[in-house]
Amino acid sequence: MTSKIAIIGGGNLGSAIALGLLKSKTKASDIIITRRNLAKIDHLKKEGFQLATDNVKATKNASLVFLCVQPKQIANLLNEIKSSLNAKQILVSTITGVSTEEIAAHLGKKIPIVRAMPNTAIAIGKSMTCLCAKDADEKHLAEVQKIFNALGETLVIEERLMKAATVLAASGIAFAMRYIRAATQGGIQMGFDSEEAQLIAAQTASGAASLLLSRESHPEMEIDKVTTPEGCTIAGLNEMEHQGLSSALIKGIITSFDRINNIKK
Ligand SMILES: NC(=O)c1ccc[n+]([C@@H]2O[C@H](COP(=O)([O-])OP(=O)(O)OC[C@H]3O[C@@H](n4cnc5c(N)ncnc54)[C@H](OP(=O)(O)O)[C@@H]3O)[C@@H](O)[C@H]2O)c1
Repeated sequence: MTSKIAIIGGGNLGSAIALGLLKSKTKASDIIITRRNLAKIDHLKKEGFQLATDNVKATKNASLVFLCVQPKQIANLLNEIKSSLNAKQILVSTITGVSTEEIAAHLGKKIPIVRAMPNTAIAIGKSMTCLCAKDADEKHLAEVQKIFNALGETLVIEERLMKAATVLAASGIAFAMRYIRAATQGGIQMGFDSEEAQLIAAQTASGAASLLLSRESHPEMEIDKVTTPEGCTIAGLNEMEHQGLSSALIKGIITSFDRINNIKK
């Protein structure tokens, strides 16, 4: 069994990466996905992926190895596969809260490691993925970045910012969802049914984000365009600020950051 890419842990993220790889022109037959319970990813067989339970065999033949298991499973997994890894391969870790330093210490040898922090929008190719590297050169990083670019937007950051990236991008999905849900509830109170209100709130949030991303604009510039003097928008916006909207968001983000910095392993 030969393959170029091994995805160890074919769960939500591993499966999304596998499907995203097809968009970056990798052939499904060059990708092997492992997990213990293969029945759960039987549908991926039809796409042409190789499915297996043997992590050692899968990693041995791969030039790129994605680690996509849960944080508590990583130590056992690294012990299992470390003898089949070598310096010509690139190890891509998506494991939340596990540093490249910790992974390298488990391996006990120098292997290029790229750490990736995507968010759940990876499933629809709209992730914000932050990347950092250890013992990897620019070519290694570029190879991994190309894959995640096919799954959304990427940013290479220093590893010291990886926890902040987890809060802003991964937890950020929940924060943005709560805004959309609250806007939906306001819409229902004004007379829309819930589906209509959610469509309007979600598409409006998506449009606002697209204005910033496509025009490289600033939020306050876009706010100025829709706040007529003495109008309804500024009245509502100022009331939200009096109630602490920006302050609540910043405090929530910093509380998440404090928590992630104090999570017991
Ligand atoms: N989901 C996201 O968008 C996201 C975003 C950022 C970071 N992450 C990180 O990515 C990792 C995976 O997240 P997820 O949401 O995809 O979790 P998940 O759905 O639980 O997937 C983990 C998979 O690992 C498999 N697994 C466990 N032990 C294994 C082993 N020894 N060998 C092979 N496969 C094994 C499990 O399947 P079996 O039980 O069948 O083996 C499971 O399918 C986590 O560390 C998470 O923190 C996820």
